Amino acid sequence: MVVEIVPLEELEPWEQVLVDLYLQCYRGMEEYAYERPRDVLHYMRWLFKRAPSSFFLALEGGKPLGFLVADDHWEEGGKLGGEIHEIVVVPKDRTQGVGKALVQMALDYFREKGLKGVGLWVGKRNERAKAFYTHLGFREKGSQGKWIRMECALD
Ligand SMILES: CC(C)(COP(=O)(O)OP(=O)(O)OC[C@H]1O[C@@H](n2cnc3c(N)ncnc32)[C@H](O)[C@@H]1OP(=O)(O)O)[C@@H](O)C(=O)NCCC(=O)NCCS
Repeated sequence: MVVEIVPLEELEPWEQVLVDLYLQCYRGMEEYAYERPRDVLHYMRWLFKRAPSSFFLALEGGKPLGFLVADDHWEEGGKLGGEIHEIVVVPKDRTQGVGKALVQMALDYFREKGLKGVGLWVGKRNERAKAFYTHLGFREKGSQGKWIRMECALD
């Protein structure tokens, strides 16, 4: 499997593909996701606005397998840092290192920006994602409603 990770340059040509990919990735986990294609589209546009040079796409032979959105100027709890707003990998290509490669890309990007830490929110019952983040060095730092805050220091 040869996967390349590239920053998305323009959203428009990819919009429909990314909406479908997102919906496919959250099937069965709707509790933590937008369900209506129109809402997902607005979410994609919001994500691209937040991170116009760090909306990273994982491609295999030009076909997207997943994406991650890394925001380098996010304020959380009065602190400015890096935030991973979203990461998804299509079910058929999971557990093969694509998610990890995306996170590593984000961490490198944040380090280049001189940031000292990165955080994200994950669904309390999203055991797969929690295990994935824990494995990559993130630790739980609190919770809010159905969400858990996880953070990782950057060295
Ligand atoms: C979470 C997600 C992105 C992980 O992507 P992935 O491509 O399957 O992850 P990887 O294969 O890169 O896994 C990286 C490492 O985490 C480990 N890992 C992955 N899933 C794991 C799990 N469920 N339990 C324990 N470890 C896990 C892998 O073993 C791997 O370890 P290694 O580097 O030692 O081999 C993917 O499952 C997904 O898209 N989930 C649905 C969307 C979602 O929940 N996103 C998170 C929103 S907060």
